[in-house]
Amino acid sequence: MKKVGLYYNFETKKTSRVAKKIKEAFEKAGGYEIIPVDVDEKMTEEQFMQFDHMLLGASTWMDGELPYYWDEFVPAMEDLDMKGKKIAIFGLGDQVNGSENFQDAIGLLGYLLEERGAKLYGFTSTDGYTFERSVGLKDGKFMGLSIDVDNQAALTNERITAWVKQLKKEKF
Ligand SMILES: Cc1cc2nc3c(=O)[nH]c(=O)nc-3n(C[C@H](O)[C@H](O)[C@H](O)COP(=O)(O)O)c2cc1C
Repeated sequence: MKKVGLYYNFETKKTSRVAKKIKEAFEKAGGYEIIPVDVDEKMTEEQFMQFDHMLLGASTWMDGELPYYWDEFVPAMEDLDMKGKKIAIFGLGDQVNGSENFQDAIGLLGYLLEERGAKLYGFTSTDGYTFERSVGLKDGKFMGLSIDVDNQAALTNERITAWVKQLKKEKF
């Protein structure tokens, strides 16, 4: 049983809902114990670093910014050694109203953590999404799971199921 930290802000509505679905999908798939961790101003570096397997949830806000609860933790993250950490990121974005900055948060976290030595898992295709630009891409793929509950809510469950299956296959 792999212990996986599921990091998101418990006060959010949409991100929390997606995080809970991801937890359920992992439990259904088997082999993983998912432990939620609240990302807020009280989260310490020790709490952030307590798991080697990490699922990180972040929506994109205001022209491509991280939500405040992640943004406040960025200075701490810049000093962390993430070698040995296996990380999979799920993002929430709005491809219609946020088309110029769709899912930027995935890339803002992804590139930073990769530079600190983390290994990222669960990159996904942009097929099925329409947007102008995203910082969340590497080699043409999202650096994680891209969820859009504003425009494609009906696809959320199947996207999560496929992603968890992919992560298992990638030996996350
Ligand atoms: C003020 C505002 C700005 C937003 N800006 C972006 C954006 O730049 N890019 C994007 O992909 N989504 C953007 N979104 C969409 C949110 O990321 C999306 O609605 C997400 O599901 C919100 O999840 P949360 O409420 O859990 O944070 C924005 C939403 C709001 C309300």
